[in-house]
Amino acid sequence: MCLNDENIVILYRYEIEGLKPEDLLGFFEKWPNPPNPDKRLALLKNSEHVLIAFDDNNGKVVGFINAITDKTLSAYIPLLEVLPEYRKRGIGGELVKRMIGILNDLYMIDICCDDELAVYYEKFGFRKVAGMVYRNYDKV
Ligand SMILES: CC(C)(COP(=O)(O)OP(=O)(O)OC[C@H]1O[C@@H](n2cnc3c(N)ncnc32)[C@H](O)[C@@H]1OP(=O)(O)O)[C@@H](O)C(=O)NCCC(=O)NCCS
Repeated sequence: MCLNDENIVILYRYEIEGLKPEDLLGFFEKWPNPPNPDKRLALLKNSEHVLIAFDDNNGKVVGFINAITDKTLSAYIPLLEVLPEYRKRGIGGELVKRMIGILNDLYMIDICCDDELAVYYEKFGFRKVAGMVYRNYDKV
């Protein structure tokens, strides 16, 4: 799919009212065992903060970010996704900046990413640290 930048207007919404599982197809393309659409909707529903990017032309969900927190000191951003055909237009950056804005009263905002994406997140003020993760691959 080829998109003409000038025709794209992206709207950002802070809730998932009216969203259906099928609206969340097309994401997680690199995951070997991606969550199914019902789980995608559930994880957004159960997150403390979500931000959804829509294409105003067709109402399509083109990106999202979520966050969970302890409401005291810490927040974690588990997922940031933009549909492949909508990438490199600043949508991911806008989602990150807006989520930082939401979480900015907290002491720590953490995100895990592949090495290659560290430079991307540094642009928004994140810095690289060592981290450890534990995964139950059969629980996706
Ligand atoms: C990462 C992602 C959300 C960025 O969305 P986006 O809307 O394209 O973001 P922006 O337009 O704000 O920024 C694009 C920049 O990110 C860079 N980028 C994106 N993915 C990258 C990757 N895997 N490695 C290195 N750079 C990457 C692009 O090269 C581009 O750089 P530029 O600004 O110098 O041209 C999107 O590529 C995506 O959904 N990727 C798959 C899921 C993923 O990796 N999510 C992050 C989980 S931590």
